[in-house]
Amino acid sequence: MTHSSSLRSVAVRVVALLALISLPALTAVASTIVIYGASGNLGGKIVTEALNRGHDVIGVSRNPASLDVNHSNFSAVGGDVSHLESMLEIIRGVDVVIVSVGGNGIDYTPENSAANQAALTFIQAARQLGAASPRVIQMGGGTTLFDNGVFGLDRLDVEEGTARHGLYFGHWQALLNYRAATDVQWTVVSPPPGAALHPGERTGVFRLGEDEVIVGENGEASISEEDLAMAYINEVEDPQSIGKRITIGY
Ligand SMILES: NC(=O)c1ccc[n+]([C@@H]2O[C@H](COP(=O)([O-])OP(=O)(O)OC[C@H]3O[C@@H](n4cnc5c(N)ncnc54)[C@H](OP(=O)(O)O)[C@@H]3O)[C@@H](O)[C@H]2O)c1
Repeated sequence: MTHSSSLRSVAVRVVALLALISLPALTAVASTIVIYGASGNLGGKIVTEALNRGHDVIGVSRNPASLDVNHSNFSAVGGDVSHLESMLEIIRGVDVVIVSVGGNGIDYTPENSAANQAALTFIQAARQLGAASPRVIQMGGGTTLFDNGVFGLDRLDVEEGTARHGLYFGHWQALLNYRAATDVQWTVVSPPPGAALHPGERTGVFRLGEDEVIVGENGEASISEEDLAMAYINEVEDPQSIGKRITIGY
């Protein structure tokens, strides 16, 4: 073998090794993931990403018959994020719970928003299950991020008692509850606010941050829903942000 062909063969082996390392979908152990909000826009994309990467998914809906996902690794169950007993039954023994729910309670208070109810119920359930509890990864709200050092909720002009107030501040209340639950394994992923989150391509090339909106080279915040879903399953396979709120952007 000449010097140059042996160098080539080493290079080919290095490239093959790098390819293997960068294929979490094929190398990760399959997890059982419960997804609350599987019928929703973002939750549905996370279901697809999880199934495509070989995981078992239990989709939860208040109307499980509406979950028509035709995949041998998918099952549907009925459940409500505010019902402790049903959550205990559904999440016992699984690896990870993903919560991507939206909506208000009848009074539009942040406390009774679906996001905050989910956080409160999960924290109670995790405490009952103790060491056997799965982790949770919950969808946060972009308006709870800081943008150029300014807290997003301070920029908003929303009146208390309205639906928007209940939703936006409900995400904040949920995050505060998780942050206070230091005995629970949680992650909140807040996409950037407004139109910065949009349907698009699954590129796999994105950055993660913490409390500050990530701005790209063009000065805009942006992330596709497909890449957001990918970040969720990356965190399932390789937990890097337990006990943290993170965000995502290009
Ligand atoms: N830029 C941003 O920050 C940004 C952008 C978009 C969305 N989000 C957040 O992402 C989350 C999901 O948004 P989306 O647009 O995907 O929502 P969506 O399409 O409106 O779906 C809402 C989901 O919540 C579920 N849900 C509501 N109340 C529930 C309850 N009590 N128990 C169980 N499930 C319940 C619904 O399930 P069933 O009706 O089947 O029970 C449905 O799957 C929301 O929290 C939203 O605020 C953030």
